[in-house]
Amino acid sequence: MNPIYEKLTRCYESIRQKLPFEPKTALVLGSGLGGYADSIRVEGSLDYQDIEGFPRSTVEGHKGRFVFGFVEDVPVVCMQGRVHYYEGYAMSDVVLPIRLMRLMGAETLFLTNAAGGINTAYEPGDLMLIRDHISSLVPSPLIGPNLDAMGPRFCDMTDTYDARYRSILKETARNVGIPLQEGVYIQFSGPQYETPAEIRMARTLGADAAGMSTACEAIAAHHAGMRVCGISCITNMAAGVTGKQLSHAEVQETADRVSLRFQKLVTAGILAVSGKS
Ligand code: HPA
Repeated sequence: MNPIYEKLTRCYESIRQKLPFEPKTALVLGSGLGGYADSIRVEGSLDYQDIEGFPRSTVEGHKGRFVFGFVEDVPVVCMQGRVHYYEGYAMSDVVLPIRLMRLMGAETLFLTNAAGGINTAYEPGDLMLIRDHISSLVPSPLIGPNLDAMGPRFCDMTDTYDARYRSILKETARNVGIPLQEGVYIQFSGPQYETPAEIRMARTLGADAAGMSTACEAIAAHHAGMRVCGISCITNMAAGVTGKQLSHAEVQETADRVSLRFQKLVTAGILAVSGKS
């Protein structure tokens, strides 16, 4: 058997034995949204370290666990803490949790993250709906033998961020009175922030926000047939935009400041795309 698929099924069996739960929607909680898992009706949680073969998250401020529960009556699984490529994992490990949530039964994936604003019309604290992404600066998570059980070898990427869900989310944001930008996310490997020259390059390529996590997750999810939505919290202006130096402290401070608004939008969004509002 393909070793990547073998690892995946081992993790999946380990989860099923410990906490069988069938989510409809999966959620990756980025910086500032970690507390979101406390706002759902929790049914149980499972630390990543208790899942056989699961890669570990090491970044400060991220709790590494799946939280299972309900947003109203929508069954959800949240990733509280994600696996970043810059931690040194193989890309197949970085996206393993996404594939696991698919195997658990999730059909929709909400990706959230912190990102640096490249578009000069943005401000720290803005929320940006991801319309599309540029992932060419990091390796594809689909490299290697194809996981035929998950999706096709040559995966179409025309509508990675589901167009219908994007329009639902924009309408939802208007209804709940939360301003929402829409733009293109570019993934850099990190962990260092970008240079001003890299950000100018990214702007020339058509990117509006830069981050270190989400595009590879969207690829794996889309490959596996999930409908994907992504929302970035613009925590800072990207390198060189204002001349100010970047810091993880600023990223966290903005993410915390915006977290209630972000949580409100995510809840309304989950209900709306599930046809509950
Ligand atoms: N660049 C990359 N990732 C980020 C940034 C940034 O400016 N801010 C938060 N995550």
